[in-house]
Amino acid sequence: MNLPMNKRAILVIITILISGLNATSQVANRFFPEKDLTTTGIYYYPEHWNENQWERDIKRIADMGYEFVHLAEFAWFKMEPEEGKFEFAWLDKVISLCAKYNLKVLMCTPSATTPAWMRAKYPETFVMDGHYIRGEHGTRGLGSIVNPAYRKFVEIVVAEMARRYGQNKNVIGWQLDNEPDAKPDYSPSSQEAFRQWLQNKYKTVDALNAAWGTAFWSQWYNNFSEVIIPNTNLVGWWGNNPHALLDFKRYSADVQAEFLDFQAATLRRSISKDQFVTTNYTAVSTGADPRRTKQLDFATYTAYPNGGTNNIGDLGFRLGNSRVILFAAEYYKAVGGVSGVMEIQPGPVNWGNYNPLLLPGTVRMWLYHTFAAGGKLASSYRFRQINYSSEQYHAGVMQTDGVSPSQGGVEYMQYMKEIKELRKQYKPGASMPEKLAARSTAILWNLENYWTIDRQKQTWQWDTWNYPIKFLEIAKSFGAPVDLVAETADLSKYKFVIVPAYEMVDSALVKKWKEYAANGGHLIITCRTATKNRMGHFWEAECAAPISTLIGAQVKATDMLSGSAKGDILMGSTHYSWNNWADLLAPDKNTETLAVFDNQFYKGKTAVVKHKVGKGAVTYIGVDTDDARLEADILKQVYTGAGVTTENYPPGVFVYWRDGFYVAVNYSSDNYEMKIPAGAKILIGSKVLEPAGVLVWKE
Ligand code: GAL
Repeated sequence: MNLPMNKRAILVIITILISGLNATSQVANRFFPEKDLTTTGIYYYPEHWNENQWERDIKRIADMGYEFVHLAEFAWFKMEPEEGKFEFAWLDKVISLCAKYNLKVLMCTPSATTPAWMRAKYPETFVMDGHYIRGEHGTRGLGSIVNPAYRKFVEIVVAEMARRYGQNKNVIGWQLDNEPDAKPDYSPSSQEAFRQWLQNKYKTVDALNAAWGTAFWSQWYNNFSEVIIPNTNLVGWWGNNPHALLDFKRYSADVQAEFLDFQAATLRRSISKDQFVTTNYTAVSTGADPRRTKQLDFATYTAYPNGGTNNIGDLGFRLGNSRVILFAAEYYKAVGGVSGVMEIQPGPVNWGNYNPLLLPGTVRMWLYHTFAAGGKLASSYRFRQINYSSEQYHAGVMQTDGVSPSQGGVEYMQYMKEIKELRKQYKPGASMPEKLAARSTAILWNLENYWTIDRQKQTWQWDTWNYPIKFLEIAKSFGAPVDLVAETADLSKYKFVIVPAYEMVDSALVKKWKEYAANGGHLIITCRTATKNRMGHFWEAECAAPISTLIGAQVKATDMLSGSAKGDILMGSTHYSWNNWADLLAPDKNTETLAVFDNQFYKGKTAVVKHKVGKGAVTYIGVDTDDARLEADILKQVYTGAGVTTENYPPGVFVYWRDGFYVAVNYSSDNYEMKIPAGAKILIGSKVLEPAGVLVWKE
């Protein structure tokens, strides 16, 4: 097959991309019967093992309590060993073994790992890095997703798989690719696709020049063909045009989403409507944007909370980062409203700073955390720890002998047994208790603001990824149900809406915020919001000009201190310290000052304001602090002032309600005694939550 990169093919890709594919996503919950609460599965790679062990392994998977097997993810070499020559007999055999042992199959498209023949014969199918060096065969995720030849090969193998397994009753659904991440690609195919993307967006090169501010440093373009992908690797830090880089991020996320949609559309030509289509984003995905896809039924995430990073207290390094599942379990509901974890760390990994043993109970607690947040499926990477290659040090739920469960495996079995008990306790139709519903909170977040702020942080102390999570943690410590929503969400459903560092806005969005507050909403806006337009330009006006009437104050200037300096803030008679970020505010006359700066040369200037708007109110927090005490106390005032009760859970203790069950998990290093009503029925655990403890109860 001769598939040179040609402009026409790229144009087709981009046209599809811009016009958008018709959404055919069905209502995703239909794939998961409510009475089952959740379902569990495991990754199995038969291609890694001797065929005479397959039946033993699959029987064992069933005996352990798993309900589905995740197959074929990286097995392109086995399905298409030579170009155009397909071999599926081996996979047929594994699938029928699964059926024999009552296990469902979650099938994967293999696009993340191409066979050796492809790189050898079609080098253009691989991405180029920022030094224009082509990726080599041997790892994964290096396919150039805008390259027409790569696309064609993906389409062919996916279509073959769909025809073969699309009507198989035992196949419940499909995972596309692996951890799609919108990798920057500087190859000629990508240069061409980027130019097309820009042309579609800006129409004229004048519009592009204006948006990118190319009058600066002679960056000016006379026509689109002169444009190259902004390459941070070759122009040095000063040469980075933030507007061009923002567009490159947008383009990369758009083509990534469209590549998934393209695979989904290919599958849907042959698969049954009863099979779902999803993918497995990484929990912390700073490139790929799930909200840009149109064809997935739902999105799942992969969660590796423990990569040798310290977390809460002395045991934190064994319990892992409590923010990983906390954020991902909510964020990925953005697609189809379903939450599910496709990979949960089964034990020590091979890539952490160091890879400690987990505190016994940790894997089970993570599983319960995903469940608590509404998880409809939980599966783990991988069944057997592999004895060879790059991931040989990575735990599986089976040890290297292939027959002895690891600590994580034992905990998985316990979890699955307990879920089966919980299913018996499930009563349909439970609605969220009033006390919790009254605290309903939305946090507005999108990747575009992450990209633009992270590019120009202004202080190394600004933690772009964790900044919105700080507010998620505060609201969760109040026992609030919290959704992470896009700006298009219906805000009227929420009693509280938090807008953390939402840098780029337009007048329609600010109007929406105004209406929310005017109608009685409690809006909390924080520093770095509305300082730029959608291209990342400042306003030709004062800082944050579009929101100054909304917050009832002007942002006059912004200060940052050294990491060791102590900025002081006074609220009532309580002092707080800060050194990351501080907006100096000039409040209007009807605006209430909640906190002032109490040292530095601007002592007495306003740091936090509250402004009544119609039936509601807007609180503006102009400061980012390390310990979040100021932010937490202000939010507490807002919630309490709105007549809502709040809890006071310590860091690392998270409590959720789902389907009639209360679930609490403890990532902290201390015991925590949960206060539950006298008549409550404990189903799992005990009131005293130990580190890695889980408590499930009904009221
Ligand atoms: C994930 C990936 C898996 C496996 C795992 C190791 O990010 O999706 O395939 O490599 O990491 O921790």
